[in-house]
Amino acid sequence: MRAYRLGLIGYPIRHSLSPWIHEQFLQRNGLTGKYELMEISPEADFAAEMENLKAMELDGWNITVPYKEKILPYLDELDASASQVGAVNTVVRREGRLIGYNTDGTGYVRSLLHHYPHLAEIKGSKVLLLGAGGAAKGIYHALLLAGFTNLTVANRTLDKAAAIVQEEADVLTLREAEAELNQFRLVIQTTNVGMKPNTDDTVISLKQLHRDTVVSDIVYQPLWTKLLKEAEAAGASVHCGHTMLLYQAQHAFEIWTGHLTDTKDMDTQLQAILEG
Ligand code: ATR
Repeated sequence: MRAYRLGLIGYPIRHSLSPWIHEQFLQRNGLTGKYELMEISPEADFAAEMENLKAMELDGWNITVPYKEKILPYLDELDASASQVGAVNTVVRREGRLIGYNTDGTGYVRSLLHHYPHLAEIKGSKVLLLGAGGAAKGIYHALLLAGFTNLTVANRTLDKAAAIVQEEADVLTLREAEAELNQFRLVIQTTNVGMKPNTDDTVISLKQLHRDTVVSDIVYQPLWTKLLKEAEAAGASVHCGHTMLLYQAQHAFEIWTGHLTDTKDMDTQLQAILEG
């Protein structure tokens, strides 16, 4: 049986949970292989590092901060998921060609629908994305691909929100989003507001939140952000963003091996690891 050769580039990645996740996936599918951390220092000659990486003939690898954009010129082809976002988190080698994908957005949507399957039945209802950075862009396109049709982006800098959406009417300021919050059945927080050490911050007030709403936060340090605690106190449903890690990995693994892996129990294991 062939042994898969997989890995991760980024910096710093010593504490990455990806080896744990992918080694579980290999085991769960009865496959053999290795997932290696290949840290590249920001001072390194990136072009030379890419040459080394190509020579290693890996089956595929993940890319994390700060190289998701820097790797673009070294690839032979981009999947739509990567070209729409302008960033790659997964590379697969097919017949010697390197193809770039982005599974961050698709992974996020998989994680959301895994926890709240009813959202698949209300794809026409209003969805609010808070933030307009790289993460928001990936999630926006993945939501469209999954069939969600009514997406609004609210951001501190309006131009950045306008650059993501298809129609100008789909952009709000953060204050407008606060005021109109009760219209939305799904609210997705994609900024880094609320992340350690600024755990007392929230990007908007939830005073107008409708209780029949799912509030999701992609910040996972801490897992229970102030925004999620406030959403829960308001009677809404909450979705913790850490499972995005698991499902972006599930989709990457599927691209590399063709196996759609069962993630049973891994959510709770991952939560325990993140909570130390
Ligand atoms: P990522 O790739 O993680 O999405 P990013 O591209 O740097 O990171 O985007 C960060 C997002 O968080 C942006 O939407 C940013 O708002 P601006 O576009 O106005 O900069 C948002 N953000 C960061 N700090 C913020 C703050 N204190 N208040 C409101 N939004 C903030």
